[in-house]
Amino acid sequence: MSAIRRRAFASAMHCLTAISIASAFPAAAAGPDDRMPIVLDASERDVMLAGMRTYLESVQGIVAALAENHPDQVAGIAAKSGAKLLQSVSPVTAAKLPLAFTSMSFDTHDKFDKLAAKAAKTASRSDVLGDLRDILGNCTSCHMSFRAVPAK
Ligand code: HEC
Repeated sequence: MSAIRRRAFASAMHCLTAISIASAFPAAAAGPDDRMPIVLDASERDVMLAGMRTYLESVQGIVAALAENHPDQVAGIAAKSGAKLLQSVSPVTAAKLPLAFTSMSFDTHDKFDKLAAKAAKTASRSDVLGDLRDILGNCTSCHMSFRAVPAK
């Protein structure tokens, strides 16, 4: 095999390994970035990352509401990251996303909506924290499996 073909083969194998590792095991925190790439145009990526910042704001807001003893604020803050946030995602973008990514995304929005509904009635501090733990579980597993890369 020529050096070039060998390199191409190695890179194809690396790609396949990355895909199977990303779906089977989350990548380690340090070391080579083997996470599966999500390839989006700059504007699509901006929308996705803006949604991520909304997620983080909700998490911060919910923790602040609990710390400051304002459980009544939790529902409104959680609802900001619910399924309504998906309205900003175009069907063209959605079609580019792997199924595992989309389903984790739907599940995360749904968890925020469920927390909002629960907190709007009565939710104890430990109920809210338990839901937040599950939400953060989704954040970390998706971040360990996928990364965003610009389209060439
Ligand atoms: C379905 C997958 C997925 C889920 C679920 C997810 N993220 Fe992300 N997030 C990503 C990807 C992919 C990136 C880009 C990371 C990269 O390229 O290194 C990202 C980036 C981010 C960023 C950086 C935003 C920026 O402006 O650069 C923040 C903050 C973030 N996520 C917060 C969260 C929080 C908080 C949650 C949970 C409430 C969450 N994400 C859930 C996939 C996800």
